[in-house]
Amino acid sequence: MKKITGFMALSLSMAAVAAPSSQWVTVDNQVLAKIRPKLNKSIQAVYSAEGATVVNLSAREVEQLSDVIHHELHRCGGFMQHDSREEAMEALTAQGDLHFAQRAIFSDYAIDQQAFTAPVVARVDEASIRAMIEKLTAFNTRHYKSDTGVKSSEFIRDTWANLARRRNDVTVELVKHPKWPQASIVMTITGSERPDEIVIVGGHADSIAGMFGGSGSRAPGADDNASGIATITETIRILMDANFKPKRTVQFMGYAAEEVGLLGSKEIAASYKQRSAKVIGVMQLDMTLFKGTVDKDIVMMSDFTNAAQNEFLGRLIDEYVKVPWGYSRCGYGCSDHASWTANGYPASMPFESNMEDINGNIHTGRDTLETAGGNAQHSVKFAKLATSFVAELAN
Ligand code: BES
Ligand code: ZN
Repeated sequence: MKKITGFMALSLSMAAVAAPSSQWVTVDNQVLAKIRPKLNKSIQAVYSAEGATVVNLSAREVEQLSDVIHHELHRCGGFMQHDSREEAMEALTAQGDLHFAQRAIFSDYAIDQQAFTAPVVARVDEASIRAMIEKLTAFNTRHYKSDTGVKSSEFIRDTWANLARRRNDVTVELVKHPKWPQASIVMTITGSERPDEIVIVGGHADSIAGMFGGSGSRAPGADDNASGIATITETIRILMDANFKPKRTVQFMGYAAEEVGLLGSKEIAASYKQRSAKVIGVMQLDMTLFKGTVDKDIVMMSDFTNAAQNEFLGRLIDEYVKVPWGYSRCGYGCSDHASWTANGYPASMPFESNMEDINGNIHTGRDTLETAGGNAQHSVKFAKLATSFVAELAN
């Protein structure tokens, strides 16, 4: 199966000019609406569903489509080429969304904000991250059905709101879910130039212990995932201190009820798709505390994630974090990034170790700061990465 996006489609279609052939292409509906007036010839939809449209084009028309997308939207994504009509139709199904999210290119991924980003990244503070982990683990459990699970989400909301107290372009809200008591937390910095384009950094706010994960048993979840929330909190702290005002909208999220099937992020990502929200990129931070792999500090999960964005993260690490990194696989939709991917959005999950070296204490009462090494040095690298991701992708 051939699915080509962006720059690759351009060179392929040029090669095909000599022998004109009909190409099956799926185009994102919002992209199509924007570019339609700019195309030489109005293109006919073959079928339209799932937020995308199937069109049949000549190689030359594909080339023009690619050019117009570049010039009008300043990005490479939004369309895919297929071998047959059947394949194009398949791309409109949920599976199509998954493939689209993994293969499409949603940005030019330029790294050109060094003047702002480098000094801010230098301000990441280990003690601040550690203090937040200690506060979160002090809740007996952050189980999605427990009273302390409800209170811990309110605590995260209050902490983030306090960091943004001097800003009138920032909101922090609880997102309630109809089927369980714990809310998700969403902080929004409204973009100054392209507010409809959204960059998201999230992690799950809940914890669990035991196979049957009762709502009463002690579940400190220091690594899984107080560390991700504390990493996000530190990112917010230094960006607010730097009076960060992004061109695109930036959202920080703490998802409810991840440990019982990605429930909070599923609802949120589905609602974004439902209203055709333009999410440019998503970073998931789930477990940043325990350094399990000797020769790698940041490990990108290559499954259920977007390949081009993962590669961008690799370049951000080289530029701003300067630690060894690599790839691993979960083998299943192991965290909230999978909810975004399933809804057609580009997501990445930079993780603390190779899959085979993970912290053996997660989902037990022993998932504490002490058993993960006693300090938050490892998380510092992820806060630097998250900060540079936001500063570069949202500007
Ligand atoms: N943080 C874990 C996911 C994880 C664990 C990633 C180990 C990489 C290595 C997450 O909170 C979790 O426990 N997820 C569930 C799956 C989910 C769909 C309920 C899991 O892995 O069992
Ligand atoms: Zn987790």
